[in-house]
Amino acid sequence: MTKSYKRTTVTAALPYANGPLHIGHIAGAYLPSDTYVRYLRLKGEDVVFICGSDEHGVAINLGAKKEGVSPKQFVDKYHALMKKAFSDFGISFDIYSRTSNPVHYKTAQEFFTTIYQKGIFLEEVSDQYFDEQEGIFLADRYITGTCPNCKHPNAYGDQCEKCGSSLNPRQLINPRSTISGNPPVLKPTKHWYFPLDNYENWLKEWLIEGHKTDWTTNVYGQCRSWIDRGLQPRSITRDMDWGIPVPLPDAKGKVLYVWFDAPIGYISATKELKGTDWEKYWKDPETRLIHFIGKDNIVFHCIIFPCMLRAEGSFIVPDNVPANEFLNLEGEKISTSRNHAVWLHEYLEEFPGRRDELRYVLTSISPETKDADFTWKDYQQRVNSELVAILGNFVNRVMVLTWKYFDGVVPSDKEIPGTTPVRKKILDAYRQAHTELNQSVKEMIRGLEEFRFREAQFHLMNIARTGNKFLAETEPWKLANEDKDAVGAILNYALTVVGNLGVACQPFLPDTAHNILRQLNGVDLVNNWNDLWKKGGLVNTVTMGHKIDKPALLFRNIEDTEIERQIEKLKKPKSAMTESAGIKPLKPEITIDDFAKLDIRIGKVLAAERVEKSDKLLKLIIDTGIDQRTVLSGISKHYSPEDMLGKQVTLIANLAPRKMMGMQSQGMVLMAEDSDGKLKLLQPDADVAPGSTVS
Ligand code: MF3
Ligand code: ZN
Repeated sequence: MTKSYKRTTVTAALPYANGPLHIGHIAGAYLPSDTYVRYLRLKGEDVVFICGSDEHGVAINLGAKKEGVSPKQFVDKYHALMKKAFSDFGISFDIYSRTSNPVHYKTAQEFFTTIYQKGIFLEEVSDQYFDEQEGIFLADRYITGTCPNCKHPNAYGDQCEKCGSSLNPRQLINPRSTISGNPPVLKPTKHWYFPLDNYENWLKEWLIEGHKTDWTTNVYGQCRSWIDRGLQPRSITRDMDWGIPVPLPDAKGKVLYVWFDAPIGYISATKELKGTDWEKYWKDPETRLIHFIGKDNIVFHCIIFPCMLRAEGSFIVPDNVPANEFLNLEGEKISTSRNHAVWLHEYLEEFPGRRDELRYVLTSISPETKDADFTWKDYQQRVNSELVAILGNFVNRVMVLTWKYFDGVVPSDKEIPGTTPVRKKILDAYRQAHTELNQSVKEMIRGLEEFRFREAQFHLMNIARTGNKFLAETEPWKLANEDKDAVGAILNYALTVVGNLGVACQPFLPDTAHNILRQLNGVDLVNNWNDLWKKGGLVNTVTMGHKIDKPALLFRNIEDTEIERQIEKLKKPKSAMTESAGIKPLKPEITIDDFAKLDIRIGKVLAAERVEKSDKLLKLIIDTGIDQRTVLSGISKHYSPEDMLGKQVTLIANLAPRKMMGMQSQGMVLMAEDSDGKLKLLQPDADVAPGSTVS
């Protein structure tokens, strides 16, 4: 239901502080929310725009482990990086906070305690998977095994990424810890659960009935199917050492589940921003709460968090949850681990002063209703044939003509009487343009109101398209000698359109808006936007006799070489440095199960000789503990038969036998090879019995 309201709280999903931002993040939640908030601010509304880093959870733990640092060091690094990239790109958060903040710990714990004291949580001891070697309970993501539904061998404890079914770790066949690789054991542990099922009736009324028409179909549909399938209690605590401690005496070593604490981060950040004034942004029924998210966050923001807010009792619940689908890159999923991404900080470095170009393209292809694909060719095409050729061209032509014929002074706005055929034609063109322009402004505003930014921006561009058409039809450059008043009338109107464009660009292309309005040399932004919005049509922006500034191009073409470089870069491995040092790029990721297929063991060389007619191969007889076998190894340039005698070697023992130089080789001896091709034998650092396994 759309309601009348006094203020709006806008949140953008808190991104995990586990890696730099890429265009998928931006297109998903941050650009749409920024566009919307800029629009609300221009309307003069009371709005707060909240975001920050999500710093808890398994993803963070995993990342820190990979980088060999503590979780805190890990999030410190990425929080700083992300905060800077957002600000450099001009996302206009009122605050970019973080969930490791003390205010947030306190807020989240109080939130938990309030619900706890109402007796709402369930408490249950259950068996959970435990990694005995590591001495820790395993989060769902740390367990892999075979999917019970599709038999995919590497499903995660919470989800099978192949068939998409959501799982619990107990359903996995042959579960393994991804940390140690060992099968985990079940151990009892106590946790607290939020009884989502008790909120089914409320959800049916509030969401299914109440938001049938105003939420987008993708969001509404997903929620509906969740609720229809029936809800179950969800555990909201975890056995982990990184996170917000559960504020209960009998909860040592337990923290709040990241999806319990993170959305409360919106509230904590508002407190940080507004001090004692924060409450009205979260508790006044006349406040609208709007969450911008990506589609993988829908259930958390539309079902779980609203139920938590309701359970707490003193908060409002969201009015709308605009959620975008995913953005792909050059036809493939964006992937951080494969470095298949356009990183925001790199874009900003490599395309300085071209923030609006990226905003424009990402909004043009915004994945509002279905997944979208970013390609560099398309980026170039949209910049060159739309921003340069339509918007930039129109503004520049009008400014140049004004200087050419009127020395940069806005000509008279008096309507010319349609007394000559030429003037008649001009008047017709003007009437036609005016109708179209008013229509475009209306449609643009409707799009902004209804979170259809892609469409809204299309109508913004239609303002420039109509402007160009108006110039083409009236051809003022042909009338300079014949009818100067007519030229003045045309340019006065064209300048008005330029002014309106400048005003209307503000939510979408803030730098461009600023440039246009600066070139016009003083237009009252806020008032003009208010007029534009209220009238839903063109307003006067420039007045006769006003001197404009010298024109400057708003955009320039993106050259082929510029995008070719970007396309090349996507094909390269993670770091150019590793490549130039002669270090081979990383192979595609494998799972622990892939690794577990290898039978690697230690053997002892019983005999060694050169292979006739080969300058590479040595024939080794190896005691593997199981058998004595022949292995051919291409090491004779690095090791003599005498060198090898009695040596311990590391062997792939289950490699299919291969024929070389007429002989069977039953396995492969492992060697380290440096960038010059030198080989060194891989050995345990002390004697072990033949047959010892390597894992
Ligand atoms: N960090 C989550 C993600 O990237 C989003 C958290 S949104 C919040 O998917 F509501 F929890 F903050
Ligand atoms: Zn499956």
